[in-house]
Amino acid sequence: MSSSNNRPIGLFDSGVGGLTVLNAVRKALPNENLIYLGDTARVPYGTKSSLSITRYAEQALKALLRYDIKALVIACNTASAVALDTLIAKYPELLVLGVVEPGAEAAVNMTKKGHIGVIATESTVNNQAYQKAILSRMPEAIVKSAACSLFVALAEEGWHDGELVDAIVKRSLSGLFDHYRHGEDMLDTLVLGCTHFPALKSSIANVVGDKVSLVDSAETSATQLKMQLSKTNLLSSEENAGRVRFLVTDGPSRFARVAKNFYSEAVDVDQIELIDIQHFG
Ligand code: DGL
Repeated sequence: MSSSNNRPIGLFDSGVGGLTVLNAVRKALPNENLIYLGDTARVPYGTKSSLSITRYAEQALKALLRYDIKALVIACNTASAVALDTLIAKYPELLVLGVVEPGAEAAVNMTKKGHIGVIATESTVNNQAYQKAILSRMPEAIVKSAACSLFVALAEEGWHDGELVDAIVKRSLSGLFDHYRHGEDMLDTLVLGCTHFPALKSSIANVVGDKVSLVDSAETSATQLKMQLSKTNLLSSEENAGRVRFLVTDGPSRFARVAKNFYSEAVDVDQIELIDIQHFG
Protein backbone atom coordinates (compact mmCIF):
# COMPACT_ATOMS: atom_id res chain seq x y z
CA MET A 1 0.00 0.00 0.00
CA SER A 2 1.41 3.43 -0.86
CA SER A 3 2.22 5.90 1.91
CA SER A 4 -0.21 8.37 0.32
CA ASN A 5 -2.88 6.18 1.93
CA ASN A 6 -1.75 7.55 5.26
CA ARG A 7 -2.90 11.01 4.27
CA PRO A 8 -5.70 12.29 6.52
CA ILE A 9 -9.45 12.12 5.97
CA GLY A 10 -11.20 15.49 6.24
CA LEU A 11 -14.54 15.87 8.00
CA PHE A 12 -16.49 19.08 7.90
CA ASP A 13 -19.55 20.51 9.61
CA SER A 14 -21.02 23.93 10.25
CA GLY A 15 -19.91 23.60 13.88
CA VAL A 16 -19.80 20.88 16.50
CA GLY A 17 -22.62 18.56 15.31
CA GLY A 18 -20.33 16.65 12.96
CA LEU A 19 -18.40 15.44 15.99
CA THR A 20 -21.09 12.73 16.30
CA VAL A 21 -19.87 11.51 12.90
CA LEU A 22 -16.22 11.89 13.95
CA ASN A 23 -16.96 9.56 16.90
CA ALA A 24 -18.32 6.89 14.58
CA VAL A 25 -15.42 7.28 12.10
CA ARG A 26 -12.86 7.00 14.95
CA LYS A 27 -14.51 3.76 16.02
CA ALA A 28 -14.78 2.26 12.53
CA LEU A 29 -11.34 3.41 11.34
CA PRO A 30 -9.11 3.79 14.42
CA ASN A 31 -5.84 3.91 12.44
CA GLU A 32 -6.84 6.75 10.14
CA ASN A 33 -5.55 10.30 10.63
CA LEU A 34 -8.51 12.67 10.77
CA ILE A 35 -8.92 16.43 10.39
CA TYR A 36 -12.19 17.93 11.57
CA LEU A 37 -13.18 21.39 10.39
CA GLY A 38 -16.04 23.23 12.12
CA ASP A 39 -17.15 26.42 10.38
CA THR A 40 -18.05 27.94 13.74
CA ALA A 41 -17.90 31.49 12.37
CA ARG A 42 -20.93 30.82 10.16
CA VAL A 43 -23.00 28.25 12.06
CA PRO A 44 -25.95 27.66 11.69
CA TYR A 45 -26.16 26.60 8.05
CA GLY A 46 -29.67 25.23 8.47
CA THR A 47 -31.40 28.56 7.94
CA LYS A 48 -29.18 29.81 5.09
CA SER A 49 -29.78 29.80 1.34
CA SER A 50 -28.54 26.99 -0.92
CA LEU A 51 -26.21 29.43 -2.61
CA SER A 52 -24.47 30.36 0.65
CA ILE A 53 -24.32 26.77 1.92
CA THR A 54 -22.74 25.55 -1.33
CA ARG A 55 -20.18 28.36 -1.21
CA TYR A 56 -19.32 27.61 2.43
CA ALA A 57 -19.01 23.88 1.73
CA GLU A 58 -16.67 24.46 -1.21
CA GLN A 59 -14.53 26.82 0.89
CA ALA A 60 -14.28 24.12 3.56
CA LEU A 61 -13.26 21.56 0.94
CA LYS A 62 -10.59 23.90 -0.45
CA ALA A 63 -9.26 24.60 3.05
CA LEU A 64 -9.01 20.87 3.79
CA LEU A 65 -7.28 20.16 0.46
CA ARG A 66 -4.38 22.22 1.84
CA TYR A 67 -3.93 19.48 4.43
CA ASP A 68 -3.61 16.94 1.61
CA ILE A 69 -6.74 14.98 2.51
CA LYS A 70 -7.45 11.73 0.64
CA ALA A 71 -11.22 11.86 1.28
CA LEU A 72 -13.85 14.26 2.57
CA VAL A 73 -16.86 13.44 4.71
CA ILE A 74 -19.45 16.21 4.74
CA ALA A 75 -20.46 15.53 8.35
CA CYS A 76 -23.40 17.93 8.09
CA ASN A 77 -26.80 16.95 6.72
CA THR A 78 -27.56 20.46 5.53
CA ALA A 79 -24.34 20.76 3.51
CA SER A 80 -24.73 17.16 2.26
CA ALA A 81 -28.31 17.80 1.15
CA VAL A 82 -27.47 21.03 -0.63
CA ALA A 83 -23.86 20.81 -1.84
CA LEU A 84 -22.79 17.15 -2.19
CA ASP A 85 -23.62 16.79 -5.91
CA THR A 86 -21.86 20.06 -6.78
CA LEU A 87 -18.71 19.08 -4.88
CA ILE A 88 -18.58 15.58 -6.39
CA ALA A 89 -18.95 17.07 -9.88
CA LYS A 90 -16.32 19.76 -9.31
CA TYR A 91 -13.73 17.59 -7.52
CA PRO A 92 -13.88 14.20 -9.26
CA GLU A 93 -10.36 13.29 -8.07
CA LEU A 94 -11.39 13.44 -4.40
CA LEU A 95 -13.55 10.86 -2.62
CA VAL A 96 -16.43 12.96 -1.24
CA LEU A 97 -19.16 11.43 0.90
CA GLY A 98 -22.21 12.94 2.58
CA VAL A 99 -24.39 11.75 5.45
CA VAL A 100 -27.83 11.87 3.81
CA GLU A 101 -27.52 8.78 1.58
CA PRO A 102 -26.21 6.62 4.47
CA GLY A 103 -29.05 7.95 6.67
CA ALA A 104 -31.62 7.07 4.02
CA GLU A 105 -30.10 3.60 3.64
CA ALA A 106 -30.29 3.02 7.40
CA ALA A 107 -33.92 4.20 7.50
CA VAL A 108 -34.97 1.89 4.68
CA ASN A 109 -33.27 -1.05 6.43
CA MET A 110 -34.93 -0.17 9.74
CA THR A 111 -38.54 0.56 8.73
CA LYS A 112 -41.13 -2.20 8.88
CA LYS A 113 -44.08 -0.45 7.23
CA GLY A 114 -42.19 2.06 5.08
CA HIS A 115 -43.61 5.01 7.04
CA ILE A 116 -40.62 7.22 7.72
CA GLY A 117 -40.31 10.61 9.39
CA VAL A 118 -37.33 12.91 8.90
CA ILE A 119 -36.41 15.72 11.27
CA ALA A 120 -33.74 18.12 10.10
CA THR A 121 -32.89 21.78 9.61
CA GLU A 122 -35.08 24.01 7.48
CA SER A 123 -32.67 23.91 4.51
CA THR A 124 -32.44 20.10 4.56
CA VAL A 125 -36.24 19.77 4.74
CA ASN A 126 -36.77 22.30 1.93
CA ASN A 127 -34.20 20.57 -0.25
CA GLN A 128 -36.05 17.20 0.07
CA ALA A 129 -32.78 15.28 -0.20
CA TYR A 130 -33.97 12.64 2.29
CA GLN A 131 -37.28 12.14 0.46
CA LYS A 132 -35.41 11.59 -2.80
CA ALA A 133 -32.82 9.28 -1.24
CA ILE A 134 -35.44 7.19 0.59
CA LEU A 135 -37.87 6.98 -2.34
CA SER A 136 -35.10 5.98 -4.74
CA ARG A 137 -34.48 2.94 -2.51
CA MET A 138 -38.09 2.29 -1.49
CA PRO A 139 -40.55 3.87 -3.94
CA GLU A 140 -43.58 2.79 -1.91
CA ALA A 141 -42.36 4.54 1.26
CA ILE A 142 -44.34 7.36 2.87
CA VAL A 143 -41.93 10.08 3.95
CA LYS A 144 -42.93 13.06 6.12
CA SER A 145 -40.54 15.68 7.37
CA ALA A 146 -40.37 18.51 9.88
CA ALA A 147 -37.84 21.28 10.42
CA CYS A 148 -36.56 21.38 14.02
CA SER A 149 -33.95 24.13 13.79
CA LEU A 150 -34.31 24.97 17.50
CA PHE A 151 -32.75 21.59 18.40
CA VAL A 152 -29.38 22.85 17.12
CA ALA A 153 -29.19 25.55 19.82
CA LEU A 154 -30.42 23.15 22.53
CA ALA A 155 -27.80 20.57 21.59
CA GLU A 156 -25.00 23.14 21.59
CA GLU A 157 -26.07 24.56 24.95
CA GLY A 158 -25.92 21.07 26.46
CA TRP A 159 -29.69 21.06 27.10
CA HIS A 160 -30.21 17.43 26.16
CA ASP A 161 -33.05 16.26 28.37
CA GLY A 162 -35.42 17.30 31.12
CA GLU A 163 -38.92 18.71 31.22
CA LEU A 164 -38.26 21.84 29.22
CA VAL A 165 -36.40 20.00 26.45
CA ASP A 166 -39.13 17.34 26.28
CA ALA A 167 -41.73 20.11 25.92
CA ILE A 168 -39.83 21.74 23.04
CA VAL A 169 -39.27 18.38 21.35
CA LYS A 170 -42.95 17.51 21.76
CA ARG A 171 -44.08 20.80 20.27
CA SER A 172 -41.59 20.53 17.38
CA LEU A 173 -42.68 16.99 16.52
CA SER A 174 -46.41 17.54 16.96
CA GLY A 175 -47.04 18.30 13.30
CA LEU A 176 -45.30 15.11 12.32
CA PHE A 177 -46.76 12.77 14.90
CA ASP A 178 -50.17 14.06 16.03
CA HIS A 179 -51.40 13.65 12.54
CA TYR A 180 -49.82 10.31 11.82
CA ARG A 181 -49.63 8.78 15.29
CA HIS A 182 -52.67 6.58 14.94
CA GLY A 183 -53.94 4.27 12.25
CA GLU A 184 -52.53 3.26 8.93
CA ASP A 185 -50.15 6.14 8.42
CA MET A 186 -48.37 5.98 11.77
CA LEU A 187 -44.63 6.54 11.38
CA ASP A 188 -42.48 3.64 12.59
CA THR A 189 -39.06 5.17 11.92
CA LEU A 190 -37.67 8.64 12.55
CA VAL A 191 -34.45 9.83 10.94
CA LEU A 192 -32.35 12.27 12.97
CA GLY A 193 -31.43 14.19 9.83
CA CYS A 194 -29.08 16.66 11.47
CA THR A 195 -25.76 15.75 13.05
CA HIS A 196 -26.64 17.83 16.14
CA PHE A 197 -29.78 15.84 16.92
CA PRO A 198 -28.26 12.62 18.35
CA ALA A 199 -27.41 14.76 21.41
CA LEU A 200 -31.18 14.99 22.08
CA LYS A 201 -31.82 11.32 21.34
CA SER A 202 -33.10 10.37 24.80
CA SER A 203 -35.61 13.21 24.87
CA ILE A 204 -36.75 12.45 21.30
CA ALA A 205 -37.12 8.76 22.20
CA ASN A 206 -39.16 9.75 25.28
CA VAL A 207 -41.51 11.84 23.22
CA VAL A 208 -42.06 9.47 20.26
CA GLY A 209 -42.26 6.29 22.36
CA ASP A 210 -40.85 2.83 21.80
CA LYS A 211 -42.86 2.02 18.68
CA VAL A 212 -40.74 4.43 16.66
CA SER A 213 -37.13 3.48 15.79
CA LEU A 214 -34.63 6.33 15.67
CA VAL A 215 -32.04 6.45 12.90
CA ASP A 216 -28.75 8.24 13.39
CA SER A 217 -26.71 8.28 10.19
CA ALA A 218 -23.30 8.59 11.91
CA GLU A 219 -22.57 4.87 12.09
CA THR A 220 -23.85 4.09 8.60
CA SER A 221 -21.79 6.97 7.25
CA ALA A 222 -18.65 5.58 8.89
CA THR A 223 -19.37 2.12 7.45
CA GLN A 224 -19.88 3.63 4.00
CA LEU A 225 -16.59 5.54 4.30
CA LYS A 226 -14.74 2.37 5.26
CA MET A 227 -16.25 0.52 2.29
CA GLN A 228 -15.38 3.30 -0.16
CA LEU A 229 -11.80 3.62 1.14
CA SER A 230 -11.34 -0.10 0.81
CA LYS A 231 -12.85 -0.15 -2.69
CA THR A 232 -10.52 2.63 -3.85
CA ASN A 233 -7.48 1.13 -2.07
CA LEU A 234 -7.20 4.15 0.19
CA LEU A 235 -7.31 2.48 3.61
CA SER A 236 -4.43 3.52 5.85
CA SER A 237 -1.56 1.10 6.37
CA GLU A 238 -0.78 2.64 9.80
CA GLU A 239 -0.74 0.19 12.65
CA ASN A 240 -0.81 2.82 15.38
CA ALA A 241 -3.86 4.80 16.42
CA GLY A 242 -4.57 7.70 14.08
CA ARG A 243 -4.27 11.35 15.08
CA VAL A 244 -7.16 13.82 15.18
CA ARG A 245 -6.71 17.52 14.45
CA PHE A 246 -9.33 20.19 14.87
CA LEU A 247 -9.73 23.36 12.81
CA VAL A 248 -12.32 26.04 13.50
CA THR A 249 -13.17 29.34 11.87
CA ASP A 250 -14.03 31.05 15.17
CA GLY A 251 -14.02 30.59 18.95
CA PRO A 252 -11.64 27.68 19.72
CA SER A 253 -12.41 27.83 23.46
CA ARG A 254 -16.16 27.66 22.91
CA PHE A 255 -15.61 24.76 20.51
CA ALA A 256 -13.54 22.88 23.12
CA ARG A 257 -16.23 23.45 25.74
CA VAL A 258 -19.22 22.51 23.58
CA ALA A 259 -17.39 19.54 21.99
CA LYS A 260 -17.94 17.63 25.24
CA ASN A 261 -21.64 17.39 24.35
CA PHE A 262 -20.89 15.60 21.09
CA TYR A 263 -17.51 13.89 21.19
CA SER A 264 -16.42 11.05 23.43
CA GLU A 265 -12.74 12.07 23.67
CA ALA A 266 -11.49 15.16 25.47
CA VAL A 267 -10.69 18.09 23.18
CA ASP A 268 -8.06 20.42 24.54
CA VAL A 269 -8.12 24.01 23.34
CA ASP A 270 -4.42 23.68 22.39
CA GLN A 271 -5.38 21.00 19.86
CA ILE A 272 -7.62 23.44 17.99
CA GLU A 273 -6.32 25.64 15.20
CA LEU A 274 -8.12 28.81 14.15
CA ILE A 275 -8.22 29.24 10.36
CA ASP A 276 -9.81 31.64 7.90
CA ILE A 277 -11.58 29.94 5.00
CA GLN A 278 -13.63 32.84 3.66
CA HIS A 279 -10.91 33.92 1.21
CA PHE A 280 -11.20 30.62 -0.69
CA GLY A 281 -13.12 31.35 -3.87
N1 DGL B 1 -25.08 19.98 11.79
C1 DGL B 1 -25.94 20.53 10.78
C2 DGL B 1 -26.69 19.43 10.04
O1 DGL B 1 -26.35 18.25 10.18
C3 DGL B 1 -26.97 21.50 11.29
C4 DGL B 1 -26.53 22.66 12.08
C5 DGL B 1 -26.68 23.96 11.33
O2 DGL B 1 -27.81 24.44 11.14
O3 DGL B 1 -25.64 24.48 10.96
O4 DGL B 1 -27.59 19.71 9.31
